[in-house]
Amino acid sequence: MIRTIAILTGGGDCPGLNAVIRGVVRSAILERNWRVIGIEDGFDGLVGVPRWRELTLDSVRGILPRGGTILGTSNRGNPLAYPVVEDGQTRLVDVSAQVVGNFQKLGVDALIAVGGDGTLKIARALQELGMPMVGVPKTIDNDLRGTDVTFGYNTAVGIVTEALDRLHTTAESHHRVMVVEVMGRDAGWIALESGMAGSADVILIPEIPFDLAAICDAINQRKARGSKFSIVVVAEGAFPADGQKVVQVSSDENSGVERLGGVGAFVADEISRRMQIETRVVVLGHVQRGGTPSPFDRILGSRFGVRAVELIEQKQFGRMVSLQGRDVCDVDIAVAVDSLNRVDPAGSLVGAAEALGIALGRKRSDL
Ligand code: F6P
Repeated sequence: MIRTIAILTGGGDCPGLNAVIRGVVRSAILERNWRVIGIEDGFDGLVGVPRWRELTLDSVRGILPRGGTILGTSNRGNPLAYPVVEDGQTRLVDVSAQVVGNFQKLGVDALIAVGGDGTLKIARALQELGMPMVGVPKTIDNDLRGTDVTFGYNTAVGIVTEALDRLHTTAESHHRVMVVEVMGRDAGWIALESGMAGSADVILIPEIPFDLAAICDAINQRKARGSKFSIVVVAEGAFPADGQKVVQVSSDENSGVERLGGVGAFVADEISRRMQIETRVVVLGHVQRGGTPSPFDRILGSRFGVRAVELIEQKQFGRMVSLQGRDVCDVDIAVAVDSLNRVDPAGSLVGAAEALGIALGRKRSDL
């Protein structure tokens, strides 16, 4: 008999998290009369003294249009490698037994973990340690396997597309090359789809190492056709064929992973140096993650929440909810975390972009 379930949101925040929380709470309470508790700040809330709160119909009232997560999130609380400072030194300690103990003390029957690759890897490990888990895929980068799309991605593409529309008019007025750096650590989905929607001239993604000469050629060809401005969209994880990813911080003090950033400035500097043309750089950064979710993400997040509760009812633990076509189904969490969902450089989406005349920065010899 399920009586109490818990939910947490882990990793970087993303529009639609509150829709998932609301979907879980409403379907668990209204349809099943279960108790729902919310764990604060991802898995961090289950380390040490647990931090949690009761989630009622009242506590989720009005949160559907709100960005972020009412539960808070963290990308530092990996219980399998938890940073502990001793004598001024940081050591990584496995505190998973503490997490399992806290989970049992709270009297919870199952835990819903809403997160990306990192959070779902932890969920999978805890499931193997005997904690009944259900996963919900989240990330604006859309780089998780096992689902056609993650929630949050659609909103991010909308935000970038609006920015590109706005940047077009100023780029055109000043005859400039506008370089727009967007998120996308390992996968170029945001850059590619928002670039196509926002009529970019050049799109650079991590899956296709770029050639600066090819980018300059594309801008020159536009000039020859009478367009004195160009829009270049570059994913933060894109890198030159003969170089490396541009990193701001090699190991972030919280997450321990490198913080990307700066490839937009690098590309803009190279274009102006090689072409004697005026460039400007816009880094959209966390604007892409903030604010109200699109209707698509509100609906997808809500459906994911409802399906996660159904999976618990059916005792389908170790599963992750997933969008397949127009249906919300489920897959083994392992499917989602074993490898990343990246853009196929030879796929039909890239093919369509190139057929539209968008340059992907490929080396001339690779065309
Ligand atoms: O995974 C989503 C993402 O937005 C990446 O594209 C980006 O590299 C990362 O999160 C930044 O996260 P934060 O600044 O929160 O550490």
